[in-house]
Amino acid sequence: MENIAKNIEKDLDEVRSLEDLERVRITYLGRKSFLSENLRLLGKMTPEERKEQGPKLQAIKEHITRTLDEKKYALEQTSFDWKKDALDISLPGKKSPIGHFHPITQTIREIEDIFISMGFDIADGPEIENEFYNFDALNFPKNHPARDMQDAYWLSEKNEKGEKLLPRTHTSSVQVRYMQENTPPFRIIIPGKIFRHEPTDASHEHTFHQFEALVVGDDVNVAHFKYIAQEFFSSFFDTAIEIRLRPSFFPFTEPSFEFDISCAVCEGKGCSVCKRTGWIEVGGAGMVNQEVFVLAGYKENFYRGFAWGFGVERLAMMKYKIDDIRLFHSGDLRFIRQF
Ligand code: DAH
Repeated sequence: MENIAKNIEKDLDEVRSLEDLERVRITYLGRKSFLSENLRLLGKMTPEERKEQGPKLQAIKEHITRTLDEKKYALEQTSFDWKKDALDISLPGKKSPIGHFHPITQTIREIEDIFISMGFDIADGPEIENEFYNFDALNFPKNHPARDMQDAYWLSEKNEKGEKLLPRTHTSSVQVRYMQENTPPFRIIIPGKIFRHEPTDASHEHTFHQFEALVVGDDVNVAHFKYIAQEFFSSFFDTAIEIRLRPSFFPFTEPSFEFDISCAVCEGKGCSVCKRTGWIEVGGAGMVNQEVFVLAGYKENFYRGFAWGFGVERLAMMKYKIDDIRLFHSGDLRFIRQF
């Protein structure tokens, strides 16, 4: 062991290049080296001998390997070849592409900023939801056709409580989740991804986004709702936006409305985006049905609130003049990079 250590030291002193080093490596670790020969002998030894000799040979091998590695490192540090290794600082640099957030993420952040400035909190909930929060808690009667208003994908597996599961069909699924954890007054928006079992075309997707609003207090009424919505849209589109409510039906609101805004593209004059009507439907809204408060565990007729669920893609398409909703999920970088 000592001999080998001394010899390798001497031999390495004379090493000037990686080629020299390779020769030394072969001498000490190669197939014909002293070490390899002894390692081969191990097989012919009695178990007792092997137990004694094995670790010793292993230690020698480790010592040699480490010494060679150290020398290699030292050589690499000092062997600088001006022709090969010099850095030409006049060469143009390689530009790393800089990424950015997806236009939908950007739009959601813009929406959040506006609501935060109006004192809202941001809430969220799971994308895979159980039947209760997506339907029952929102006062959808069992087996009621209103459940088909939103064609759901259903998962084949149930959760550990035996509840049916689905990718949520709307952000309204977070309403009762939030109310179970919080006491009014509060005002929140819930931006999120939702899923519908629907054929796709330029204005329909199976996967898109909504932002739900839920404002609950002692004396919340439709005037508050109209005011806040108008403030939001005018700020989002940076121009005065008019809003229009049309009577509608949702089991979780009473009264319920379809919610339109004046077309931000043509300012209500009529264009292809608003199909010449001057108005664009952005979602549903209404005063929270007292049944929903009860299902959330609140006292009946104690609070009043409004809620809406508006489509994010719609707004982004209008603001950025995008004519096909499928572009958002296309993964097409030529589209994404424009934002
Ligand atoms: N969840 C409804 C949908 O996706 C939209 C909606 C309507 C949400 C009325 C609301 C509401 O909060 O009050 O079709």
